[in-house]
Amino acid sequence: MSKILRLSILGAGTVGGGVLTLLRENADLLEAQTGKRFEVRHVLVRNPDKPRAVAVPPKLLTTDPQRALCDPKVHVVLELMGGLEPARTLIRDALQAGKHVITANKLVMAVSGDELLRLARQRGVRLLYEASVAGSLPILDALQGALAGNRIQRAVGIVNSTTNFILREMERALDAGEPAETAYTNALQKAQQNGYAEADPTSDVEGYDAQYKTAILARLAFLQYVPLESVYREGITHLSGRDLLWARRLNMGLKLLSISERLPDGRLCARVHPTLIPRECPLYVVRGAFSGVWLQGNGFQEMSFHGFGAGARATASAVLGDLIAVARSPKPPRYEDPSLRPGETAPIESLSMRYFVRLVAPDEDALRTLREPLHLLGAEFHPAEALEQGVEQVALTPPVNEGAFQTQIARLREQPDATVQVIRLLSAV
Ligand SMILES: NC(=O)c1ccc[n+]([C@@H]2O[C@H](COP(=O)([O-])OP(=O)(O)OC[C@H]3O[C@@H](n4cnc5c(N)ncnc54)[C@H](OP(=O)(O)O)[C@@H]3O)[C@@H](O)[C@H]2O)c1
Repeated sequence: MSKILRLSILGAGTVGGGVLTLLRENADLLEAQTGKRFEVRHVLVRNPDKPRAVAVPPKLLTTDPQRALCDPKVHVVLELMGGLEPARTLIRDALQAGKHVITANKLVMAVSGDELLRLARQRGVRLLYEASVAGSLPILDALQGALAGNRIQRAVGIVNSTTNFILREMERALDAGEPAETAYTNALQKAQQNGYAEADPTSDVEGYDAQYKTAILARLAFLQYVPLESVYREGITHLSGRDLLWARRLNMGLKLLSISERLPDGRLCARVHPTLIPRECPLYVVRGAFSGVWLQGNGFQEMSFHGFGAGARATASAVLGDLIAVARSPKPPRYEDPSLRPGETAPIESLSMRYFVRLVAPDEDALRTLREPLHLLGAEFHPAEALEQGVEQVALTPPVNEGAFQTQIARLREQPDATVQVIRLLSAV
């Protein structure tokens, strides 16, 4: 590779803008660390006339992907557009053309990572994607580098900072004495006003974004291919302010967690769902628009990463890390990528865990009927409380099988005018 590393950047939005800024601000540092100067030759956008937070010299802007991909002088393509298509096709075309690719795109890497990583190896180029999981946190690099000598037992993360912001805002609203019933809707609106949530927040609040990141994280932590559809997904839309009030009373935090763990039978279980965590859990302090990942492994024991999971500069930091890695070692490893090996996955129904159950019924008689099956499981009950409408009671179960438990809960939900809220508790390893 020459002394100049030439780049095409696909996308000049939040992340693309952040990368352009850091490339300018840190040019001397990048050269000192790699012995190369980084030169941007093309910036692909949809609309070249759009006002941009970060100015792009007009001569670099293009709307023609082929111009950005086929320039023989370009060494590295940075895909920072987002979405499945045309991003996936452009990554594929860039690899075919013998360019290294760096992407921040979790959707593409979760859906087509296997095909693209194999293609990169065949073409003798690198495909790196640190920014696709937890923004600035160097978690993928750590798993493949400094921590690679460990057998990972569990990877637990707050990998979607939008939902973490919403849950924190719900807590703030409750502290300010606002009604629990409207806490979620108001917090979502605030996230949208602050630019943390999209106008259509489905990908974040329904857990899709965290599901993509979990598939990627689990592959690198457990060295097997994790198909996206094997990752259980549940979002935060069904949570109420009452759940957060109870979390606090129980001295716990309520987070949307990504959890991947190897089961005793060797299968891998990866999932995303709201989870109650004890105060001692390192992720308890990860609040607001932050991300965190807590790893447990048989050598280092445990380690946590905590920082900005999104945003222009924070995400650009991860992209630059990948860029430096390509500049230093442009050759892909000779061995087969262990994260592409097939392996068995287990559905969430095969797990046993503890549950928080919040029952609301119109009166004490109806509540008794709801309580009955939980009594039989040996659940511990907190005293019932009168609400404006009905009676509420909370129970914590001992560890029970998810499949059997959810069948029982589905039956309870058939009872007219009953609310049966169920939230999983994080188990000890
Ligand atoms: N934002 C974050 O904090 C963050 C954090 C981690 C990872 N990521 C990932 O980083 C990627 C980029 O996110 P972002 O927030 O920077 O997105 P964004 O602000 O919406 O920017 C997307 C950029 O791509 C361009 N673009 C989109 N579709 C295009 C097309 N078909 N042809 C040409 N240009 C196209 C847009 O052009 P115009 O400007 O002309 O519209 C825009 O410049 C995504 O994969 C995202 O998941 C983002």
